[in-house]
Amino acid sequence: MTKHISVAIDGPSGAGKSTLAKSLAAELQFLYVDTGAIYRTIGYYAWTHHIDPKDAAAVKAALPEIQVELRYDGEGLQRMYLNGEDVTAEIRLPQISAYASAVSAHPAVRAFLLDMQRAFARTSSVIMDGRDIGTVVLPDADVKIYLTASPEARAERRCRELEQRGTPEPFVKVLADIEKRDWDDSHRAAAPLRQAEDAVLLDTTGLDFDQSRAALLDIIRERACL
Ligand code: DC
Repeated sequence: MTKHISVAIDGPSGAGKSTLAKSLAAELQFLYVDTGAIYRTIGYYAWTHHIDPKDAAAVKAALPEIQVELRYDGEGLQRMYLNGEDVTAEIRLPQISAYASAVSAHPAVRAFLLDMQRAFARTSSVIMDGRDIGTVVLPDADVKIYLTASPEARAERRCRELEQRGTPEPFVKVLADIEKRDWDDSHRAAAPLRQAEDAVLLDTTGLDFDQSRAALLDIIRERACL
């Protein structure tokens, strides 16, 4: 049986996890799994159905009506489907971030999505990014990386991304949103954001994309003996 390699990348929002992980997965020919997109899909359902995302009972009651699917298009890019409808673009709307963070705090939501995430690592070599991949989803991952950067550096990057998407927002608002989400994601009881004991810490504050990518690739090659 071929041994599948699993790489877990966790860290706060805006640290560059998804862009870096996507690029490295293409180079290593691993499957890239963006788990934040899965929580965003549940958050999007709550938003479109006027469900209070903080109401644990209401969100839990809605789960049987929600079918979340992660598919890959012809170019190998991840697309999210909610009850058969492609919601890949919609889940990136700025208002969905807070909804995703709120629904992700409920243990019922995390349990609902756990097997789906683990199944990818059983059948493929993966680079999976999120908040609890190294601590909960793939505790036996071959490589664990905790990727972070200062809140200001992350807010700057997020501002550029939002501008490119045509939905610009002021820096102070983006920074405040990031700091709130950091706090919420790391202070919840269920699978809070934290560095796994055996994760390598990479702070990309002073690094550009190429430098961050090279540093990550070195860690992966060394740890996974590639
Ligand atoms: O990575 P992102 O910003 O797209 O994630 C959206 C939210 O989903 C984030 O605020 C916290 C939650 N999340 C999580 O709780 N666990 C994960 N593995 C990934 C994301």
